[in-house]
Amino acid sequence: MTTQPRNERLEDALVRDPEISEQLLRWYDQTARDLPWRKSSDPYAIWVSEIMLQQTRVETVRPYYTRFLERFPDVFALASAEEEDVLSLWSGLGYYSRARNLRRGAGVVAETHDGRFPRSRSEALAIPGIGPYTSAAILSIAYELPFAVVDGNVARVLARVCRLDVPLQRKASFLEAQAEALLSKERPGDHNQAMMELGATVCVPRDPRCDLCPIGEHCQAHVDGVVDAYPSPPPRKETVALELVLFLVVDRAVGATERLLLERGNWPLIRHLWIPPIVESAGGPPDSSDAGQQGWANAWNRWTRHRAKGLEVGGWSHLGSIRHSITHHRIRFQVVEGTLQSAPSDLWATRDDLTVATERAREELGRSSLLTKALALRDRVKGRKQLEFPI
Ligand code: ADE
Repeated sequence: MTTQPRNERLEDALVRDPEISEQLLRWYDQTARDLPWRKSSDPYAIWVSEIMLQQTRVETVRPYYTRFLERFPDVFALASAEEEDVLSLWSGLGYYSRARNLRRGAGVVAETHDGRFPRSRSEALAIPGIGPYTSAAILSIAYELPFAVVDGNVARVLARVCRLDVPLQRKASFLEAQAEALLSKERPGDHNQAMMELGATVCVPRDPRCDLCPIGEHCQAHVDGVVDAYPSPPPRKETVALELVLFLVVDRAVGATERLLLERGNWPLIRHLWIPPIVESAGGPPDSSDAGQQGWANAWNRWTRHRAKGLEVGGWSHLGSIRHSITHHRIRFQVVEGTLQSAPSDLWATRDDLTVATERAREELGRSSLLTKALALRDRVKGRKQLEFPI
């Protein structure tokens, strides 16, 4: 028996009907949203739009895009701007590393490419902040080069069209090859935008609008009546149960305002967000909800940073428990309130790990939903909102 080389088998599996792109483009010509970046073929403007559109909705991006291009109309303007000015125009869009990289990338294009966005994929990929998705989007939309975009929306469309029976994450190279196989060589930029638009507006994750789909007759999942089963869900990891203690440490020493001790993402399951101190509950249930002053003091002592920071806390009271899931961890937190009794005078000015962060850091890093849940419990127990955030 002979086995076929891998590439041939991949080739055989690809859907190649050119009618798909024709129908898709006809639909796009009739229904495409009127978006400001679609009026331009300037690679810089398209670059800005594609970076802003990452993880952000079109309607949110619209005003930011217009303001940004008014202020920084070309690569040179952005490359020579102060980072602070770029961040302040970005303020509210979130994911600020995008803005920092965009400015750095503009510096590279200004210096290395005379201000012209390169036409080669490898040169585009060498620019800070530009990965496979962004490079394909910019090169196809600005220069009509035949690079197919695969973002989350496109991957979903393709998984349904092909009835892909494995989770998307395991099939990245297949999805790229499939996207390339369908790509219009005449209008790759519009084709890519049409695929993204189809995924964003019609072939949506839940209850897709197959009645409006221009390529429904080519969609194997639709034809077979099983669209809801695609994309295949990722394999489930076995769940892990954890018992933890979460400390709401309140500072009452500063006039009428109560403040809360937070640290930044120092716990393995939540990085980069502001969270209260968390430790494992040594005893676990059943006695964890009833540990008493000494028990909670012992638990607090396991949060070793308090010693490094010279924090004394007492007056423990158990508020109750909350459940919270993070990836495959199912966690029960005993929520315990304590009062800050002494702390170094500069504690509330510390920016990089404990407590006070700038407004921008709060937006950038976000507040964890775990903290929101713990505070809701506190409000329920205490009957009113009392805490003010230093962040
Ligand atoms: N999402 C990101 N970029 C897009 C574009 N150019 N068109 C439609 N959706 C998008």
